[in-house]
Amino acid sequence: MMTSQTFLELFERRGALAYDGEPVTQLQHAWQCAGLARQAGASDALQLAAWLHDVGHLMTDLQGSPTERGIDDAHEDLAARALLPLFGPAVAEPVRLHVQAKRYLVAQKPGYGESLSADSIRSLALQGGPMTAEECAEFAALPAARDAQRLRVWDDLAKDGQLPWPASDQVLAELAALMARCLSQAPAGSA
Ligand SMILES: [Fe+2]
Ligand SMILES: [Fe+2]
Repeated sequence: MMTSQTFLELFERRGALAYDGEPVTQLQHAWQCAGLARQAGASDALQLAAWLHDVGHLMTDLQGSPTERGIDDAHEDLAARALLPLFGPAVAEPVRLHVQAKRYLVAQKPGYGESLSADSIRSLALQGGPMTAEECAEFAALPAARDAQRLRVWDDLAKDGQLPWPASDQVLAELAALMARCLSQAPAGSA
């Protein structure tokens, strides 16, 4: 089973990888996404989901931007399966649904699709394109649907190559502290 330490080590070892064709690294993207969640007043669990939503990219051996090669790495499922036994559904579910949330928002929110980056548009096609009306209704009925949409919006914004940023050991210390808080709150045996 993955532990908090494993997640920290993944970012230590692989956090400098480029984020999907964007001007930020995986670590910068994760940190920026969590910062937006914190500024929006999100719960610790949702902040942690924002931090770790793309950690699945670091758990595979695919380098760089898999979508450029027509590959969907299913990173959201990989991450959610690792997060669930440790932190429970409040963290795992928004992560699992963050790709579906994009498909939902493209279908539901006028102008959202045009706001996406080139890589996000490319991966959308690989991920099934905009949701049908039936898929939208199913998605909206999920308990974590709203959190997943909030996470998605932060995800889309967390690609600022100009944002000043602290030393990466300080950033990882923030992640360690947040994981410790979430572990103390997660229901025991929440999987
Ligand atoms: Fe993602
Ligand atoms: Fe992301």
